[in-house]
Amino acid sequence: MRRLAACVVAVLSIAEDGRAQHPTEATPQPKSTPQDIAAGARIYGSQCAYCHGTRGEGGRGAVLARRRLLHAADDLAVFHLIAQGIPGTEMPGNPLSASEIWQMVAFIRTLGLVEQQPLTGNPARGEELYRTKGGCTRCHTLAGRGGALGPDLTEVGGRRSAAYLREALTNPEAAVPDGFLQVHLMTTNGRKITGVRLNEDAFSIQIRDLSDIFRSFWKSELAEFHRDAGRSPMPGYREAFTSAELDDVVAFLASQQGGL
Ligand code: HEC
Ligand code: HEC
Repeated sequence: MRRLAACVVAVLSIAEDGRAQHPTEATPQPKSTPQDIAAGARIYGSQCAYCHGTRGEGGRGAVLARRRLLHAADDLAVFHLIAQGIPGTEMPGNPLSASEIWQMVAFIRTLGLVEQQPLTGNPARGEELYRTKGGCTRCHTLAGRGGALGPDLTEVGGRRSAAYLREALTNPEAAVPDGFLQVHLMTTNGRKITGVRLNEDAFSIQIRDLSDIFRSFWKSELAEFHRDAGRSPMPGYREAFTSAELDDVVAFLASQQGGL
């Protein structure tokens, strides 16, 4: 009996889960006629292409021109992902009808069938540069290892296009992700600290400083506090790397697809 009750609760909570956006239409009704694909392409062109690229090659948004997606194993999962977005990332939810979303799922599937241009760089040399000359491990984690000042790069090849990755390396401040904020502050006893904001409320702020150390302050103990929107502690690598080395590092990053 107890098991039955648990079952009912589970079913109710699935129904209440974010799918409430399409309460009656959420039942799987995949669409795949050429007309559906064309309709999906039109919506994609106006609402998604500016982040994901016109052919799904990616950009600020993930690469969609691939057979398997990082966050969605099957079409129903893609459907829910498009409706709800991915919380905590730049991927927004969409108030489209269920039919429109299914048309978009059908269109996205066609993107995965297009041959992609292979990258020219050598990923093995890129990995070497990442660990040595680039000093990237100081600030970035890959597969659980490295610093935490910058974003985890474990799946970055699935989340960003090669062009975006090159831009992030040569001109970091042109590609600061949403939600990322550099701050600098001075304590009342004159100590100056720059770091990345982790949390902030009316009374306190928590940061990770440039030595990758977690620090928490009461705002009342700060003599100065600035938000450096659009600034980044990541150095630009336009001079540090040759163009061929940049190609290698980009090829290495593009191959980081979270095990896919
Ligand atoms: C403001 C930019 C932006 C817009 C607009 C946007 N996306 Fe995204 N999307 C992203 C980002 C960024 C990610 C990757 C999130 C992550 O994994 O960190 C993403 C992820 C995805 C994924 C998952 C990819 C994977 O490999 O799992 C799908 C599918 C997707 N978007 C489809 C769409 C569709 C369809 C639209 C239009 C209705 C759309 N997106 C609009 C930024 C955007
Ligand atoms: C001093 C710390 C630091 C070093 C060293 C550093 N980065 Fe970063 N990196 C950051 C921070 C912080 C961000 C987030 C803000 C931004 O985009 O500039 C970032 C962003 C990125 C991004 C964009 C990620 C995304 O999802 O938008 C990539 C790619 C990247 N770094 C790769 C590298 C590589 C490769 C190296 C070595 C060649 C490197 N970084 C060295 C701190 C660093």
